[in-house]
Amino acid sequence: MLTGERSQDRPLEELWLDGAMPTDGDRAAARSLAARMGEFEGLRPFPAVVQELVEYIGRPDFNLDKVRQMIESDPALASRIMRVANSVAFRAYEPCTSVAKAIVRIGATNLGQLSMAMAAMTFFKDLGGVGMRVRDHSAGTAAVARELAFRMGLSAVSSKVLLAGLLHDVGKLLMIQTGDRDYARLLNQDFSPNTAHKREVQRLGFDHAMLGGHVLARWNLPEPLPQIVACHHQPQATQGKAGVVSMAISTLRLADTIDWLLAQPQDPDPTVLKKLALSPDGVHAGFGEDTLIDLWEDLRTARAEARSLFR
Ligand SMILES: [Fe+2]
Ligand SMILES: [Fe+2]
Repeated sequence: MLTGERSQDRPLEELWLDGAMPTDGDRAAARSLAARMGEFEGLRPFPAVVQELVEYIGRPDFNLDKVRQMIESDPALASRIMRVANSVAFRAYEPCTSVAKAIVRIGATNLGQLSMAMAAMTFFKDLGGVGMRVRDHSAGTAAVARELAFRMGLSAVSSKVLLAGLLHDVGKLLMIQTGDRDYARLLNQDFSPNTAHKREVQRLGFDHAMLGGHVLARWNLPEPLPQIVACHHQPQATQGKAGVVSMAISTLRLADTIDWLLAQPQDPDPTVLKKLALSPDGVHAGFGEDTLIDLWEDLRTARAEARSLFR
């Protein structure tokens, strides 16, 4: 069972990056959030096999053959893992034909977390319109973030942003799952990035990023994943900070916007891509003025594939 410390009891500072301090507004938001956490108490998206798998992979002496047996015992999980192993995200030069090869390609440690993320995504399968849009956006953002990290040579960032991308808006899915129709309407009003969280704070006192970070911590997903998710609408959390976590947040924020741009009926003007590449997040991730223009078609391909993979 995934148990653990109740995340509303954890100090808020734990979800912010080193040296960044939550503001008074953040603290008020955390109090408001704590009052709502009970509604999410019963939501446990991880099937037993995924929980056992993650626990087993966490042991220092795990055996790859046993990992294979556990995955093969759940045909739905096995087939998803095979599809991921054969996707652009894992650079499949040759087709991956067995679960054993998929474990080697993805890496056993990544596999546990990826299985959790995939389980969380399928848990939200009967969401209807706006929920499906959030789920598709999450899959697209994950693929774009991974592709950006890979192309920029940020290998330590790439596995983190795949998972963080899949789960970054899990707070929105949770809010929809509680049957809050006003919230679904609020999301439907405007799907552009960096807007919903402001309306959420006005209406709820907290935003989906903070909610997602707290819930992922409660589900015992390992740091820095809850931290990356909690900070994805906090540009100040990464400003002037080096390191893998702040780089992952900047990459995720860029991918969040890129997924939205790719969803538009017309391609953006090159000046929009240049401006995004030279934004604080773009500069932080090492982009040059033309980086996004050069990568645009590859980002489109990776996004399209991931959206079908996680449906
Ligand atoms: Fe978000
Ligand atoms: Fe998003």
